[in-house]
Amino acid sequence: MAMGSYVRNAWYVAGWSNELETAKPLAVSILDEPIVLFRGESGAVHALEDRCVHRLAPLSLGRCEGDHLRCMYHGLLFDTDGKVVEIPGQDLVPKDARVRSYPVVDRHSWLWVWMGDPAQADEALIPPAVGLDDPNYILGHGFLDYDAEARLINDNLLDFSHLTYVHANSFGAGPEFAQSLPKLEPLERGIRYTRWTTSTYGQSARKSDTPVDSHMTYDFLVPGVLLMTGGNYPEGTAAKLDFGRPAIADAIGGVTFTSQAVTPTAPRTSRYFFSWGPHVQHGDEKVRDALMGMADMAFGEDKVMIEAQQKVIDRTPNPRVMPTAHDKGVTIFNRLVERLAKEGGTAANQENTACP
Ligand code: FES
Ligand SMILES: [Fe+2]
Repeated sequence: MAMGSYVRNAWYVAGWSNELETAKPLAVSILDEPIVLFRGESGAVHALEDRCVHRLAPLSLGRCEGDHLRCMYHGLLFDTDGKVVEIPGQDLVPKDARVRSYPVVDRHSWLWVWMGDPAQADEALIPPAVGLDDPNYILGHGFLDYDAEARLINDNLLDFSHLTYVHANSFGAGPEFAQSLPKLEPLERGIRYTRWTTSTYGQSARKSDTPVDSHMTYDFLVPGVLLMTGGNYPEGTAAKLDFGRPAIADAIGGVTFTSQAVTPTAPRTSRYFFSWGPHVQHGDEKVRDALMGMADMAFGEDKVMIEAQQKVIDRTPNPRVMPTAHDKGVTIFNRLVERLAKEGGTAANQENTACP
């Protein structure tokens, strides 16, 4: 089964940095390509095709030696570029004996892998997520595996009208989410979503005893990274700012940050990474744990709906959607993905072209 249309020239989250131990290779899959991540003795992280050139054994079952990786089937030794540097019992190493190596960066507590042309790997394109070590936030984190294509999870994150229905029990979103439209602004590599709710007692993470103006905003960036913050402000703030962006320092409560990343692992599976927690001035470990409990419940609700949706789509001969007013963000983002996928080649038609 071919991958759908995904952008290759983008940084995909391959895992949490703290889950990759030194000298313990880790098998992951991105865009249906088997990849082995390993942290060498130097501390540097490397990403290679997880498929030995000899007899296609997974290198993730291999052994780290310094910053090299040895296949533990018949002992071929690979350097960090994926080149074979030693073949036991044979002096000559063929010049083209190598596996693909992927640019990989350890940043914001995530391991980011560039799936496109390595020559175009630009670290400036790594979305500005908030790492677990950020002194301003107290974050919990995790990931969830989905039996659904990443595109459906992206669509879910681009249309928050589902909060009213899917998350009636967890986030406790009121009807206003589905009844009103957010402000949307296209970005070069994504879309910015913003909404003010005025004179509210807040909802989910931002409940308040007195009426406040509640702000939330997120950027949703290629290939599927959501960076969301928000907080409560004195009543009247939204009007004073002409519904513009407030300064976090002016918030009177409820400031949180969540980073989320959707990684297509195969045509019908995905891994969904997330962190969430309060700003240090708006909560502590207890608030973080409460938010993570809420997130576990809510993300489970999304998973039930999206995996069921996938099953229906799969048994529909020519699946077509009928967009509503809330699909504006979905449509803008998916058009951007189509364009970038065409410019940089898609997963389906650029298989292994970066291989020398
Ligand atoms: S399969 Fe890797 S050395 Fe034989
Ligand atoms: Fe959701």
